[in-house]
Amino acid sequence: MKITVVGTGYVGLVSGACLAEMGNTVLCLDLDPRKIEILKNGGIPIHEPGLDKVVERNVAAGRLSFTTSVEEAVAFGQIQFIAVGTPPDEDGSADLQYVLSAARNIGRLMDGYKVIVDKSTVPVGTADKVKAAIADELAKRGVEIPYSVVSNPEFLKEGAAVDDFMRPDRIVVGAEDPKAIELMRALYAPFQRNHDKLVIMDVRSAELTKYAANAMLATRISFMNELALLAEKVGADIEQVRVGIGSDVRIGYHFLYAGCGYGGSCFPKDVQALIRTGDEYEQHLKILNAVEAANNAQKQVLTTKVLKRFGNDLSGKHIAIWGLAFKPNTDDMREATSRVVINDLITNGATVCAYDPVAMDEAKRIFQDQSGLTYAENPLDALKNADALVIVTEWKAFRSPDFDEIRQRLSAPVIFDGRNLYDPKMMQSIGFEYYPIGRTV
Ligand code: UDX
Repeated sequence: MKITVVGTGYVGLVSGACLAEMGNTVLCLDLDPRKIEILKNGGIPIHEPGLDKVVERNVAAGRLSFTTSVEEAVAFGQIQFIAVGTPPDEDGSADLQYVLSAARNIGRLMDGYKVIVDKSTVPVGTADKVKAAIADELAKRGVEIPYSVVSNPEFLKEGAAVDDFMRPDRIVVGAEDPKAIELMRALYAPFQRNHDKLVIMDVRSAELTKYAANAMLATRISFMNELALLAEKVGADIEQVRVGIGSDVRIGYHFLYAGCGYGGSCFPKDVQALIRTGDEYEQHLKILNAVEAANNAQKQVLTTKVLKRFGNDLSGKHIAIWGLAFKPNTDDMREATSRVVINDLITNGATVCAYDPVAMDEAKRIFQDQSGLTYAENPLDALKNADALVIVTEWKAFRSPDFDEIRQRLSAPVIFDGRNLYDPKMMQSIGFEYYPIGRTV
């Protein structure tokens, strides 16, 4: 099939490359010439394991190409994926200007039946707005061309995006028009390995499904984070509690890890956007408001522990930070806890030396020439003369470090661990002052 993907961000580029991998011919459009230049030169503008190979292979096979030309993009695919950004507005609701402008372009230029697929995470009712925008453009032209608008939310995780797309748990398609449903069924047929993963539903339910999934996962995390705070007070261990409740199949083990708060481009934004949708319909979502508040507070938990240990004035204290990305295997620092921790530590007078395996360029872009913040070439160098180590992201490389080396380089053996990487008893036995989340030593 011939497919156009509008937007070469995480979702667009991964979808385009993976659909090409399955034998489709895909043209990706982005209005940012810099991104298209990188892609045309065989690079990829984001850090995502395995994606470069898929892009390279499919470009070489002639199944994947890139353009900045809207005309070319609209003319190309019978299926037009819209995978542009929906950044939060000032009030937290999703900003639909890029989605609707993509829709208008399609309406302005299409000359035959098209299926327009909303792949971006968009609030309930967006498909109707996309439909109306296209209808409006067709009316301006005085033409009648049939088209369908479909909702097909994406559930991929950064760091595992290619695998998630190629081996999805489910493929949600919200569509009412039988012709569009048939096309979507054919498009996703190669992804159905052992059982039918296609879940077809009405458009509004599909739109809400995406938010419901992310909000549920964020809720689990905030719930565990809050219980972790209680566990510290009552002298319990959140890790043991996690195993104890996760073994109940109704609960399951996933997304029950307490830590220093969730970040990323999805959970914070989608939780906020769903809260706004609730407000808009006067159905206030009390649980989600609490989830968001708990997460914002959780991002301060590490600093609170540091202040409790060293006192409120951190002047003269030097702190090492391991991990800047909002999670491992990405250079993404959107809503990352590290940003809050670094700001809070510096505001309280400390100096900070940070290390991350891939997000350091991104950190430098975000923090610019922030005074009090330096970067280290490797994890051990970051520890030099530091009064403590603070772990913010659970990169694999941090899981089994040389504790003797760490002890030698730190001024004192103090570790604040926002991701519960080590066994507290073991840490105590080898002479560390160890502060995990929700675990009593
Ligand atoms: C998420 C959803 O998982 C994905 O389905 C959706 O399409 C986009 O949003 P992503 O943002 O890439 O994906 O990251 P994810 O792996 O879900 O982690 C989100 C945040 O939650 C990270 O900051 C992570 O550290 C945190 N987290 C995750 C926890 O604190 N505890 C957990 O148990 C799991």
